[in-house]
Amino acid sequence: MSQIQEVKVATDVVQLISERVTLQRSGANWRGLCPFHSEKSPSFFVSEQLQRYRCFGCGESGDAFTFLEKYEGMTFAEALQYLADRAGITLTKQTFTDEDEQRKRLLEILNLAREYYYYLLTEHEVGKKALAYLKERGTTQESIKVFQLGYSLPSWDGLLKYLNHKKHYSMEDIHASGLLVKNQTGRSYDRFRDRLMFPLTDHRGRVVGFSGRVLDSAVKEAKYINTPETLLYHKSQLLYGFSQLYQNIRKENEVVVVEGEFDVISSAQAHVNNVVAVKGSALTEEHMRLLSRTVEKVLLCFDTDSAGLEATRRAIAVAKPFGIELRVLDFGEEAQKDPDELARTNPQHWRQVVRSSISVYEFLMRAAVSEQDVSTPEGKRKVVNQLAPIFSQISHAVEKEYYIKKLAETLQVKESTLQTDLQKFGVLGERKKVPRKNANEPEEQTTKEQPLSRRVRLEQYLLFLLFQAAPSQMPTFLRQVVEFEWQVPAAKQLVASLAKQSADKNWSLQTFAQGLAEDLQQRLFEITAEEEFLRIINDLDRDKEYSKEWNKTWADIQQLQLSDRKAVISARISELESLNEMSADQKVEYNELLQQVVQMR
Ligand code: CTP
Ligand code: MN
Repeated sequence: MSQIQEVKVATDVVQLISERVTLQRSGANWRGLCPFHSEKSPSFFVSEQLQRYRCFGCGESGDAFTFLEKYEGMTFAEALQYLADRAGITLTKQTFTDEDEQRKRLLEILNLAREYYYYLLTEHEVGKKALAYLKERGTTQESIKVFQLGYSLPSWDGLLKYLNHKKHYSMEDIHASGLLVKNQTGRSYDRFRDRLMFPLTDHRGRVVGFSGRVLDSAVKEAKYINTPETLLYHKSQLLYGFSQLYQNIRKENEVVVVEGEFDVISSAQAHVNNVVAVKGSALTEEHMRLLSRTVEKVLLCFDTDSAGLEATRRAIAVAKPFGIELRVLDFGEEAQKDPDELARTNPQHWRQVVRSSISVYEFLMRAAVSEQDVSTPEGKRKVVNQLAPIFSQISHAVEKEYYIKKLAETLQVKESTLQTDLQKFGVLGERKKVPRKNANEPEEQTTKEQPLSRRVRLEQYLLFLLFQAAPSQMPTFLRQVVEFEWQVPAAKQLVASLAKQSADKNWSLQTFAQGLAEDLQQRLFEITAEEEFLRIINDLDRDKEYSKEWNKTWADIQQLQLSDRKAVISARISELESLNEMSADQKVEYNELLQQVVQMR
């Protein structure tokens, strides 16, 4: 047994988690309020049998190791060490992979680089120019300290020499930390030269990379350059300012998301210090996950150009599974300024802007309306087309009604007319997301973001029944679904694995689970630990009533398949009918579809 296995076996995930989260027994599982997103009713489950946890609200899941990684921000190696200590197991050195060891060295290197750049800026003669630049931009001493700003030498190998000659780190490691570049002849030199330096930290405050800004605007190089993706630095996870301003962010329970480093710094100086930057890129799922552990509201402050609008639209889908409330800052007549400028020139107004955030739906509605001439039917139609897919994502019915009412007023149309229009879109919008018959497994994201369709729900129940069935029932159940095209992710693999073992009289869920790959184990857990299903079958007699339940569910699914197919066909038929003229091909298609409909009855 590997030491990892040994530690895993010696650990009880229920015990581990219950030291941090209040758990209550719930049937075969334990449940509590999810520590990874904020919620009022508990949807976080821990399975003693499978030694895993899973939140049905935000989708977080894993085992004892991932729990510590996510909850405590530990690396795998740290989690291993922690759990080994608890269990009284002494780890031999080999347990740390080469990668863990390298990670440690890279963190040391990056931390030394931070100290080095900071020293050059704050204490060395050569940093005067950069200090002057900061002063001109209104950056305070305190900010320099809090954000550990620095300066890189205008030389080719200042940092390289320091790290390699003086501190004896290998060239390989210094390269892997992202601090060097190689030219065509293979020579290595400092990536950051003569730049103002911003250490980029992970959520625990460890330096994982840097960005550097030119000081002289006459220089033709890129204004900002960043550490490339490395073992430690992942652009899609980085939120500039998060670790430095964490306490304020947590306290405010909301966070302002801006674009750049200076936006964060100037905003904090203007006493809006619950702020992070995505560094000019999109807000990713990883960003949201991190933020959702700390705040309930995210206030977006992106450019108002079309790219900024698109980023705002996309953020809705990203935020949804985390239950985050999205709001948008509206600069009003100061729209030409960025937060950095506004916070510096008019801090009071910046605070006002943050206080008067508007909901993302309101914002997108205003944007759509201002782009069109809404006095014409054409303009009205365009606005509805633009907003329908957005409004259909509002989960709360009362909220949805509010915006529909508001839009009806703005467009001066009857609310009921708008309702009908939106409904059409809602249906079509959803249908697009349903994977086609022959498509591969639906992407995980699709299933996470969309509310579960009835089809998926029924499939989950069917799978649940299959895995909870008595070994004697299994072969019968299995036979019916061998060919079935599941929409539930990984169902196909799980059923295939089960089919190989189901003849075994001593079959048990636990041993079956142990023989599966990690991700399949997780899927199996999701299926078999579903509270609602467990409640249903609690009252059932396994031998007698399972088959009934199975047959009914299976029939429902087949019925649904048929009516799905009908709906797709009739949508296409109406689409063709609405054309002024059909091409020859379209006529053929139309006739074929009609034929099919007739045969279906
Ligand atoms: N950015 C980046 N890489 C680039 C360009 C931009 O990482 N090549 C990030 C930086 O974090 C920057 C942010 O995107 O702060 C916004 O970029 P930009 O609009 O160019 O920033 P400015 O506001 O013009 O920068 P400054 O205020 O420093 O002049
Ligand atoms: Mn700026």
